[in-house]
Amino acid sequence: MNAPLPRHQRTSRLPKFLFGTPYYPEQWRPVDREQDAERMASTGMNVVRMAEFAWDLMEPRRGEFHFELFDETIAKLGERGIETILCTPTAAPPRWLTAGHEDWMHVDAQGRHMTHGSRQHCCTNNPEFRKESERITQAMASHFAGDPHVIGWQTDNELFCHFNECYCPACQAAFRVWLQEKYGDIAALNRAWGTAFWALTFDSFEQIGLPYLDRPTHPNPSQHLDYFRFLSAGITEFQHGQVEILRAAQPNWWITHNGTFDHVNHWKFAEDLDFYGVDVYPGFMPDHPRLLSWGALKHEEARAASGTFIVPEQQGGAGGQRPYLHETPPPGQMRLWAYQGIAHGADSLLHFRWRTCRFGAEIYWNGILDHDNIPRRRYREFTQEGQELQRIGSKILGTALFVRAAVLTEFDQDEAHITMDLGLPSPAKQRKLAYAELLSRHLPVGVVDASDSFDGLDLILIPSFVLMDEDLAARLRAFVERGGVLVATARTATRNRHNHVIDRTPPGLLSELFGATVEEFGKLNTPLLNLELTTGESLPVGAGYEILQPRGAETLARWSTTTDGSPHAAPGEAAITLNRVGKGAAIYVGTYFSETNTAALISLLLDQCSIVPLAKADAFVEIHCRHAADRRLFFVLNHNPKEASVTGLPGGIDLISSQPCKGQLTLPAYGVAIVEQSPA
Ligand code: GAL
Repeated sequence: MNAPLPRHQRTSRLPKFLFGTPYYPEQWRPVDREQDAERMASTGMNVVRMAEFAWDLMEPRRGEFHFELFDETIAKLGERGIETILCTPTAAPPRWLTAGHEDWMHVDAQGRHMTHGSRQHCCTNNPEFRKESERITQAMASHFAGDPHVIGWQTDNELFCHFNECYCPACQAAFRVWLQEKYGDIAALNRAWGTAFWALTFDSFEQIGLPYLDRPTHPNPSQHLDYFRFLSAGITEFQHGQVEILRAAQPNWWITHNGTFDHVNHWKFAEDLDFYGVDVYPGFMPDHPRLLSWGALKHEEARAASGTFIVPEQQGGAGGQRPYLHETPPPGQMRLWAYQGIAHGADSLLHFRWRTCRFGAEIYWNGILDHDNIPRRRYREFTQEGQELQRIGSKILGTALFVRAAVLTEFDQDEAHITMDLGLPSPAKQRKLAYAELLSRHLPVGVVDASDSFDGLDLILIPSFVLMDEDLAARLRAFVERGGVLVATARTATRNRHNHVIDRTPPGLLSELFGATVEEFGKLNTPLLNLELTTGESLPVGAGYEILQPRGAETLARWSTTTDGSPHAAPGEAAITLNRVGKGAAIYVGTYFSETNTAALISLLLDQCSIVPLAKADAFVEIHCRHAADRRLFFVLNHNPKEASVTGLPGGIDLISSQPCKGQLTLPAYGVAIVEQSPA
């Protein structure tokens, strides 16, 4: 039997590439809607997403349902070949539902109760609100189950986007139940949380509070980590209630959600979905270099959890809210962002939104059409995308991102860092730096979840994975033994899953694999030390140092004398070690990836692997390969505001221009090519 594919390599099985926009028929007059259907069809659109904020319209009074507007709009669009993704409308519960239920609203860490008046006001852990969520989901599911133009669903809208850490009484009660299920008895919880400290011992689950409210000072890090796990479990369960209803109503529907937000364990949350969705607004990251890697990483969050995914919202122009207004994407950039998503594994994409609204909180969130409904350059660019994707979409479906180098991600590591950050670089920050560096060298890099299979990978980076367990340690060892190169940075494997520091010398469960132990660890509040590589190069370090004791490993770098001549324990001691195990190698870096050292550290690591770049170009040309058994598509994305050249590509045809490519290309500013490699 074949081993199951790694989840990050899974393809979506969508029958066609969907391209379109979210659409809000409730905001437009019948005459506008008539014209919209015509126009949409002419752009190459084949899908809209609707209804995520329309609960009050569909159920103006309890039990009185009015789906006519959606029935009519779905049918009108359907006649023109445009299908519909519906959403459960639970991000905007109606006023008749919240009135008199102020206790259903979120409460923040300062104990302030939220009120009705924007969106995401109700707490998704509130059992009464969950019943309401399932009731409206059931009503919609039953009503639309027979509609041939409704093809799939999005649950809610951007769960945890505005509010995730809730401190309401329902969360308090649910946390206790969750802990009881997890630990069984209070003595086990006391051990797991290490309550023999500051008189924290609990006599019963009823005494347990949420970690922030009413505390004079720092919460217990074990309790805090469990609270974050509880938040994620709660939102996953809330979604699950809706998913079960939708699946029972119509097994042909697929289900997605538009993430990705903090305190959600994407790996677990996406298990309930046919594929994950990610909303991408690069306008929030305006400076040029970050734009490239931020957008890339945002898509990777969804890909790591789901394999191929969709983009339910991609920026469709400038966006603005009370305190800000994004820069308007110059000609070509919106299309480039769309192809960036597709290059990473999007199998469908919608630009937010069809037309800019003239009222409400988002009057400056640009749609494809402006307020005056006159098609302009964004509309022409959108039409170009639509027509291209109609032509090439079927080539893209069925392929997955080709990945050989993986930066590992894990919910627990990110959350554990928040519980005790010490002002040290987070795994997330280091992931970003290392990923951006590998990406800029055009290597086949991706983000992979620590729970996924490591098959097919040659290089794995675990940036400060402080939490370690036997299972992950064994899987990392097996990866190295069969020929992989594993790289860890400072503080890896220093705590257990309860967020307690271990009693073994670090890196604890991984000491044997790395063939080294950490003899001293410290923070550097000012850059005081350099790394001296065995190659003779000298590197400024990140925010901390570890003195390593090789125990079988060779030394790749040592600490140098302090930059100001002051006494320090590190100079002359080992700082980076390499241990050969089986057919592979385990490299321990006794510091953090930082802005000043990542490039040189990555060069050092790559010397140990045989991963080769996909092609050659400057760092602002993004290159990826999507592959299937019978084809390889090379996506070339020019993020430069000027022309750029690429060499070293395989020979083939550029699917976009339909021109042959003989291994090199010149792309205009924000230009895109997708070279399908010719069969050998
Ligand atoms: C998204 C959200 C949309 C809309 C958009 C622009 O985060 O899902 O409903 O608000 O941002 O602000």
